[in-house]
Amino acid sequence: MRKKVIAGNWKMNKTPADAKTFVSENKAAFDSNNAEVVLCVPYVSLHAVQNELKGTNIKVGAQNMHYMKEGAYTAEISGEMLSSMDVPYVIIGHSERREYYAESNAAVGKKTKKALSCNLIPITCIGELLEEREQDLTFDVLRTQLTAVMDYLNEDEMAKVVIAYEPVWAIGTGKTATEEQAEEACAFIRKLIRSYFNHETAEKVRILYGGSVTPANAAKLFAMPNIDGGLVGGASLVPSFAQVIHHE
Ligand code: PGA
Repeated sequence: MRKKVIAGNWKMNKTPADAKTFVSENKAAFDSNNAEVVLCVPYVSLHAVQNELKGTNIKVGAQNMHYMKEGAYTAEISGEMLSSMDVPYVIIGHSERREYYAESNAAVGKKTKKALSCNLIPITCIGELLEEREQDLTFDVLRTQLTAVMDYLNEDEMAKVVIAYEPVWAIGTGKTATEEQAEEACAFIRKLIRSYFNHETAEKVRILYGGSVTPANAAKLFAMPNIDGGLVGGASLVPSFAQVIHHE
């Protein structure tokens, strides 16, 4: 049985002080034994949130990292830096990174590999644009983006990766994929892993859905057989994120 992952992606929101207060006020409601709850917060809030989460099962995560260890890469943060802070999770290749910071499929693959070698669990994001879906290219895009990641990994590494299927047209738009659309894509992703590696590896990988997840639609989405939880943006910034976590 795959343990569900419910990850909040705070993006560029909340100061460290606001983050601390928010977590302090909501950690009891967010805590869970059934699902792995992860709060992916801005780098500057990692320390404060991690301290606040002591004694709970909730984990902290970063939202990006570089694939190099160190050097002249102004403003970047390495996997080694994150693991030295005992940060267990990191989002890789979010569509906003791909769109605004020109992250290539190859860079997403390298970062995923590097995260694993630093003992971080990567939450690696893939997903199609609206025009790609309209042109019936969804599966092609998913195949290209996921293969670029799998090319860097062996099967043990792949089994540890969390894949987030995030159709770009559903992110921050209030337009959620239907549970059938999300399940179809996540089942296809699992099939790709099975044909690239094998059945056992594919069964271990947690595949999340992301894109306008709310307390109103979480239960239906997360009940689908190939959807193992969610990557949640806007709805993770407010107390009602508890209802996404405890969706049953
Ligand atoms: P959203 O964002 O839930 O606000 O649509 C999801 C994401 O970008 O991970």
